[in-house]
Amino acid sequence: MTWLGLLFVVCSLMTGTEGTLFENELLKDMFANYNPIIRPVLNASASIQVRLGAALQQIIEMDEKNQVLTVNLWMRMQWTDRNFHWDPADYGGTDTLIVPINSIWRPDIVLYTNADSGFSGMMETNAAITNTGIVYWNAPAIYTSTCKIDVSFFPFDEQRCPLKFGSWAYNGFQIDLVNRSLSGDISAYIDNGEWELIGMPVRNNIAYYLCCVAPYPDVTFTIVMRRRPLFYMFNLLVPCMLISLITVLDFYLPADSGEKVTLGITILLALIVFLLLVAETMPPTSEVVPLIGQYYLATIVLVSASTGMTVFVLYLHYRLPGTKPVPSWLRSLAFNYIARILCLSSTIKVAPAPQSPEVIENNHLSNGNVHTDKSYKTNENNISTVTLPPLVSERFQRNVNSILDELKFMTNRTKDSDVEEEILTEWKYVAMVFDRLFMWIFLITTIVTTVGILCQPKPYTLREDL
Ligand SMILES: *[C@@H]1O[C@H](CO)[C@@H](O)[C@H](O)[C@H]1NC(C)=O
Ligand SMILES: *[C@@H]1O[C@H](CO)[C@@H](O)[C@H](O)[C@H]1NC(C)=O
Repeated sequence: MTWLGLLFVVCSLMTGTEGTLFENELLKDMFANYNPIIRPVLNASASIQVRLGAALQQIIEMDEKNQVLTVNLWMRMQWTDRNFHWDPADYGGTDTLIVPINSIWRPDIVLYTNADSGFSGMMETNAAITNTGIVYWNAPAIYTSTCKIDVSFFPFDEQRCPLKFGSWAYNGFQIDLVNRSLSGDISAYIDNGEWELIGMPVRNNIAYYLCCVAPYPDVTFTIVMRRRPLFYMFNLLVPCMLISLITVLDFYLPADSGEKVTLGITILLALIVFLLLVAETMPPTSEVVPLIGQYYLATIVLVSASTGMTVFVLYLHYRLPGTKPVPSWLRSLAFNYIARILCLSSTIKVAPAPQSPEVIENNHLSNGNVHTDKSYKTNENNISTVTLPPLVSERFQRNVNSILDELKFMTNRTKDSDVEEEILTEWKYVAMVFDRLFMWIFLITTIVTTVGILCQPKPYTLREDL
């Protein structure tokens, strides 16, 4: 040993850097013949066991449209490197060595389900090596993984995103990849506002490909998460329900306001705008119609039908003068059955059915005191058969007769318009009865549809099953 060397050792001892000195020594001994490319096994047929674990830190983003999930993971790997073996006593008690990961051999573990264009993998952190050769390497990574999204139950859906890790180049005879624990570590997980983490089970699979006899093991972590539906309830479902309720009011709107159809069409447009919003967040898939889409579609169909019903009601309501009276089957259906079932009888004041002249005649003859409007007709003959005393001049007689003719004409007009008005009023009542009937049909159908679609059982996973 030269004087300079001795001086260095003395200086080191005085400044308390003996630890680094021993480490330096250890590093020199260990890396003397080390090649980080060569698999650190005793002989070529031996496999090296790599234990893989992952801790989920955060679900960064779930992109439904592109079916891509971005997560922050801490990867934990452990294997035994046969090149490292030392007695801590020889190196001043140094039992672990921290080295940059790219200075030693490491398994080429990649995410098979990667969807990142840059293929950014794990961060190149340092690894810890124990004196028995066990290498611990923990590396944080942000992974973007493909994830097949099933939107059938959106916004009450649950997604299962598998993250499949494996060695790309080494087969199962060279690297034996196994899971480190029963499930992924979620103790440090930071909650996501949109997704509730249910669990992160892990599976160790072995795949055989057609090319080779060798098995290819992989470790698959499945992130099971459930969407928190509150946001969608408030922004999409509740408005849709309120709009459906407004449609009920459309049936109450008097036909004379002339706004019935306008309101129906406005509601329809509002629903379509909301449906577009829904479609924007969904992947453009034709495999399934999401629950919310079904609901919107059902509501749109119902509102369209209600607009159709309204048009029918308006058709009944607005009749041209000279229209035929309400057919007896319709009047009986509307007033005797529907109005009674819907308890509308008290609000409807319909005159008895207009009867044929002969019936009225008979009534008059038998009763002699019918005071309905229809009794005009019975007086006709009386008016035309007025005879005056013979003293009155012929001219006067003629004048009186012409006045009588005028009177007769006017009476007929009044009678005709009364009958006509009555017919029109009756049609309006029929329209009202049908309007109310359609309202109930719509209301019941809407409630049944809403409950049926939104309350169907969701295939949620139980935490215990994971
Ligand atoms: C390699 O190791 C295995 C046991 O791990 C042993 O059976 C085999 O004989 C060894 N091969 C050679 C060439 O040393
Ligand atoms: C690895 O996962 C399997 C289930 O796939 C489990 O049975 C096994 O115990 C796990 N291994 C460890 C070391 O926890």
